[in-house]
Amino acid sequence: MSAGETAPVAPPPTAATSSPFTHLLVTGGAGFIGSCFVRDVLGRRDGTRITVLDKLTYAGNRANLAAVENDPEQAARFRFVQGDIADPAVVGPLVAETDAIVNFAAESHVDRSILDPEAFLRTGVIGVHVLLEACREEQARVELGERARAPRVLQVSTDEVYGSKDAGYSREGDVLEPRSPYSAAKAAGEQLVRSYAVTYGTDGVVTRGSNTYGPFHHPEKLIPLFITNALDDLPLPLYGDGMQQRDWLYVSDHAGAIEHVLRHGASGETYNIPGNAELPNREVVARLLELLDKPWSLVRSVADRPGHDRRYAMDGAKLHALGWRNRTTFERGLAETVDWFRANEAWWRASRSGEWDAYYARQYGTRIAGGSAMAQVARAESPNTR
Ligand code: NAD
Ligand code: DAU
Repeated sequence: MSAGETAPVAPPPTAATSSPFTHLLVTGGAGFIGSCFVRDVLGRRDGTRITVLDKLTYAGNRANLAAVENDPEQAARFRFVQGDIADPAVVGPLVAETDAIVNFAAESHVDRSILDPEAFLRTGVIGVHVLLEACREEQARVELGERARAPRVLQVSTDEVYGSKDAGYSREGDVLEPRSPYSAAKAAGEQLVRSYAVTYGTDGVVTRGSNTYGPFHHPEKLIPLFITNALDDLPLPLYGDGMQQRDWLYVSDHAGAIEHVLRHGASGETYNIPGNAELPNREVVARLLELLDKPWSLVRSVADRPGHDRRYAMDGAKLHALGWRNRTTFERGLAETVDWFRANEAWWRASRSGEWDAYYARQYGTRIAGGSAMAQVARAESPNTR
């Protein structure tokens, strides 16, 4: 399928009515992908209830849930709790009252994991362990006849656990070779889920999602950073030669695939969630500048990310066999993302406040000072899409 075509097969319905999961605990639900999941599930108005547990780190934003909180029908099925997934006193009672946990909570930015790894391990490893222990408590309550079934836990993981893939496509059974503190913590978290499924019979599933983009994406990441910098005519810091390749996945497709696996996936299994646009970073930047009507001269070639993974690409056959297809082409998703950032300047300026300037100076100060203008390479003839 080319990036310009729409998916031929519509996914089967995932209505809560056909599923035992009617009250969900969504951890990290105030972040980019988690908030999309919450908005989409509650916006379907099928009776599903959601409790969000979120620590509100620099990346968590209650405003991402405003559409839900400002709608009386959805607000009645929604509760927000500020707290840490690594805190058993907070997690235990919430897990006790839910049918399933969808764990989005994580420190999610690779560059920050290179600057300060510790928080990545605390949330990504200890936090997941606390969630799993709470599930084990509920399994004990099932044995005592205190509840009908134990909760299912879905761990949201990433293609980065496979490490850099020079050629071919990573499959779920491949060896994991994470290469950054971020991806090492993600690998540890999902391995804990699998180990609890094997050892204690915990009902656990894992998804490995591809590079995600769309509205509400924190401006620290490539696409929103370059959109917001370009809108302000600031330099666009492209790492190394800019030929690293990612497979882009629209945020509502990622959130929808996660819900599909939650409701239809088999316990103990892992499912890749690929995107539908395998492109080198330079090509993504060229397309963004075209949509924004800004010149390539904004692009600076800067010092590379240490240990920078060259390429990620996953095989999606297992998810397809479960009945899921992505719906959003890269052309449409990118145009909608640019439009959203243009229309929501107050949101992204607020995200670029507080600790932003200190982070930006630390990550980019020396890089941009030592950077150079970058010649634009010939545009890719046709993107390698599946
Ligand atoms: P994000 O950084 O936008 O959101 C993370 C959310 O988790 C924030 O709301 C934050 O406040 C919350 N959080 C962090 N630590 C917490 C803790 N200890 N307790 C409770 N809440 C906490 O991240 P995102 O891009 O939405 O990613 C969500 C998940 O998806 C992550 O697990 C990430 O590893 C995974 N993932 C992301 C992508 C991507 O491209 N963004 C792709 C594949 C997988
Ligand atoms: O692949 C899934 C992963 O995608 C998720 O697990 C992570 O949570 C998410 O952050 C993302 O990781 P990446 O490191 O791939 O995304 P990021 O947007 O940081 O970078 C995308 C590419 O762009 C990567 O090759 C690095 C490059 N880049 C990034 C930034 C922020 C630049 O060239 N310049 C930049 O300033």
